[in-house]
Amino acid sequence: MDALTMKKLAGEFAARYVEPHMLIGIGTGSTAYWFIQALGERVKQGLQIQAVATSKESALLASSFEIPILELNNVDEIMLTVDGADEVDPQLQLIKGGGGALLQEKMVAAASQRLVIVADERKLVQQLGKFPLPVEVIPAGWKHVRRRILDMHCPKVELRGQSQPFITDHGHYILDCYFEHIDDAHALNIRLHQIPGVVETGLFLNMATEAIIARADGSIQIIKRES
Ligand code: A5P
Repeated sequence: MDALTMKKLAGEFAARYVEPHMLIGIGTGSTAYWFIQALGERVKQGLQIQAVATSKESALLASSFEIPILELNNVDEIMLTVDGADEVDPQLQLIKGGGGALLQEKMVAAASQRLVIVADERKLVQQLGKFPLPVEVIPAGWKHVRRRILDMHCPKVELRGQSQPFITDHGHYILDCYFEHIDDAHALNIRLHQIPGVVETGLFLNMATEAIIARADGSIQIIKRES
């Protein structure tokens, strides 16, 4: 099974988790896409739900499937959020933000009772860090932030988009940090947040409650966080 089919399998599987009248969070990326599409089909058939989106892109997509979208500020607790990830370790710690939506994704995840990750098996890692860690930064100070991260023994830090910087939904830049391996994700997250100009990191720690992993043989593996 190729990557696209695995993503479709995981995304569609997650759509079954949604029950009538739920307030759900809608993720971003090429795996979440299939979740949104499958959910849209259920909405067309009469399923009544409301949703909060993790990006402008996902809000547009969900609206095109007639899924009602609410602003995060206008809701209290989200029952279930389904989102993708770039890396998933055995404790369900994540790197996210490959698509640049990490800030809104983290705010939505933090407001959610359950965060279910949809991914294909290539995203499973023993240790986080091979995938460059996205860090969202204030544009006016990005060079200083970059220097501080390089000083933290990160071999390479790139401004996403380089001469035409990628601008996030919230008007910030992204630094992609090539740590290669992250030994202590909690400590790194704290150190990054201490740098003035850092808005958010792509480390999603102790947030995911479950992962739906599609395997190349067509099976689904469910990983649940130990409580
Ligand atoms: C978006 O900013 C990301 O966090 C995505 O959820 C993540 O990059 C996974 O994307 P894919 O499902 O497209 O691989």
